[in-house]
Amino acid sequence: MEIKENYPLRGLNTFGLEVSARYFIDIKSTDDAIRFLHSGMQRNEKTLILGGGSNILFTHDYDGLVIKVSIPGIHVVRENDHFYWVKAGGGVVWNDLVEACINADFGGIENLSLIPGSVGAAPVQNIGAYGVELKDTFEALEAIELESGEKRYFRKEECHFEYRDSIFKNELKDKYLITNIVLRLHKKPILNTAYGQIEKKLKETGKDKFTIRDVSEAIIALRRSKLPDPHELGNAGSFFKNPVIDHDLFAKIHKSFPDIPHYPEGENKFKIPAAWLIEQSGFKGKKHKGAAVHVNQPLVLINYDHATGRDIVELSKQISEKVHENFGILLEPEVRIL
Ligand code: EPU
Repeated sequence: MEIKENYPLRGLNTFGLEVSARYFIDIKSTDDAIRFLHSGMQRNEKTLILGGGSNILFTHDYDGLVIKVSIPGIHVVRENDHFYWVKAGGGVVWNDLVEACINADFGGIENLSLIPGSVGAAPVQNIGAYGVELKDTFEALEAIELESGEKRYFRKEECHFEYRDSIFKNELKDKYLITNIVLRLHKKPILNTAYGQIEKKLKETGKDKFTIRDVSEAIIALRRSKLPDPHELGNAGSFFKNPVIDHDLFAKIHKSFPDIPHYPEGENKFKIPAAWLIEQSGFKGKKHKGAAVHVNQPLVLINYDHATGRDIVELSKQISEKVHENFGILLEPEVRIL
């Protein structure tokens, strides 16, 4: 384990921003994590745990310690007649875990194909796509408390999962390093194809029975048609969360915009696609310095030409101000801004 100084983070954040970390360490095992945290350096330095860097926006160099989690491994740890319990290291690339499960015909995370980021970061914001969230298959995780270096297990109920949210973004923000997670996957996969255009994509294959691989391929095609590849155009997926508004505000907006897309969410509330609000506010494809709003999916902000983190934040502020002015809705960033 080697602590590096002034370490470049360009390749470690999917916006591709040219920033560096004052101190940097790459952790490759749970034992290394415990040993390093017992050394206590993190108690004297501002500390950031970094996974795949796919949900983070650096507005300046990080003046503290960045701990990159690279813990590998994918194993079946238990099975019964219905399920496999699969344990994966925090440093595994999320999509590699999805691929491994599809190859083994373990069902449950195929709808989460191609989501960028690492396994350890997945529970932090309860990643989700195409009608499925991590919490649907999540069983437990193992983490090390930064302060004490002690290991702790969290069961699903203890993680307080919500839409793009968990205890690790709230009370326990920056307090734990997630070393591995356990998912409970189906031996007889139950396909989840209700969301949007999945059915349509599946029909195009001409088959009449589908496997989890077919669902994964349909989702990969959908994502590729809308979402920019971070290797080609720096981005961090959806920049904002889809807002949930109450019935009164919805009724008011609906009068002026009868076509507003909306999905019921809990009692008397509606989830509105932020992409629609941004598009209606005239921001599709709009540029600001090196930053831009993606043309196919306006919920995604991109680094199209040597943008700085500040350029992207400025663009996001212009968007939220306009959306607020037009609709009275406050957009909340999904991406973590540092
Ligand atoms: N829409 C527009 N204009 C557009 C694109 C979309 O008005 O140009 C509206 C349409 O009404 C469309 C709706 O937005 O029906 C939903 O679009 P989409 O299915 O692309 O999904 P999203 O709500 O914009 C969410 C997630 C994505 C996830 C997709 C698919 C959030 C913040 N984002 O986006 O997650 O891939 O659903 O499930 O919930 C991410 O979190 O980084 C991410 C990419």
